[in-house]
Amino acid sequence: MSLGESSSVSSSAGVAPPIQLTAKEFATICSLAKEEFGLELGQGKEQLVAARLGKVARRHGFRDFPTYYKYLKADQSGQALVELIDALTTNHTSFFREPAHFDFMVREILPAAKRSGALSIWSAACSTGEEPYSIALTAREQGETPQIMATDISTRALDTARRAVYSAERFEQPLPAWLRKHLLKGEGQWQGHYRIGPQVQAMVSFRRLNLIEPLPSLGPFQLIFCRNVMIYFSRETQEHVVRQLEERLEPGGYLFVGHSESLTGIQHNLQQLQPAIYRKRGGSR
Ligand SMILES: C[S@@+](CC[C@H](N)C(=O)[O-])C[C@H]1O[C@@H](n2cnc3c(N)ncnc32)[C@H](O)[C@@H]1O
Repeated sequence: MSLGESSSVSSSAGVAPPIQLTAKEFATICSLAKEEFGLELGQGKEQLVAARLGKVARRHGFRDFPTYYKYLKADQSGQALVELIDALTTNHTSFFREPAHFDFMVREILPAAKRSGALSIWSAACSTGEEPYSIALTAREQGETPQIMATDISTRALDTARRAVYSAERFEQPLPAWLRKHLLKGEGQWQGHYRIGPQVQAMVSFRRLNLIEPLPSLGPFQLIFCRNVMIYFSRETQEHVVRQLEERLEPGGYLFVGHSESLTGIQHNLQQLQPAIYRKRGGSR
């Protein structure tokens, strides 16, 4: 999701030249991004931001920042803000990213769920769907069918996730036999693509949700994946997000964060079990 992670900026910048941003205009966008989405754009990102805003602005026929910004502030539908977050973030993700989490699920969480009944999981910041489908595929292969709620702020990412069609290169090759069982192979114009099978798709429901806003009543969940998104938030925002996640975990529930993210220095009441795996105290599972 980071501004730094993407290589698509340069190619998109090739199509739509950047608009010029003064230091003051850059600062204006930085504070808007922080306020609305919790994003810390930071120093050194001026050109990247200009390239991305240029793309959005030109799509609407605006040639300079002030005209675009006027439109952004005047828009009452929320659509302009959605376009802005879509432009500012990239959605880098992959199937079975950070496999230690999936190993832990198979070893610790799914056997306990088998004994105690229903399991509900939240993939917060699910991007284009690879994460929640990886969770569903892992669980299904172990004979479990938890309900997985998958959320993201980006409507563009969620559209891709709901489509559930991925290029074959997105999967390990050659495709392992166990995975082949759950995927539909594309033909004709869809050659070289796979669709996630309907039973796996049915385990996942998608909705748009901004993690820094007060969250609706959700959960409680036995497992929350919130990976590779908090790294771009300020410490203050991270604390706020972790608090909200913690409240939605059932006692004994687990929180997975990205391996390059740590909750060190953040106030929380979770117990760290191993790197990037935390557990809410209490519970009997
Ligand atoms: C790098 S992707 C991580 C995807 C997946 N969790 C993974 O680890 O592979 C980060 C995602 O966070 C989303 N995101 C950014 N700010 C957000 C916010 N305030 N609320 C919810 N999602 C946000 C982005 O749209 C993006 O899809």
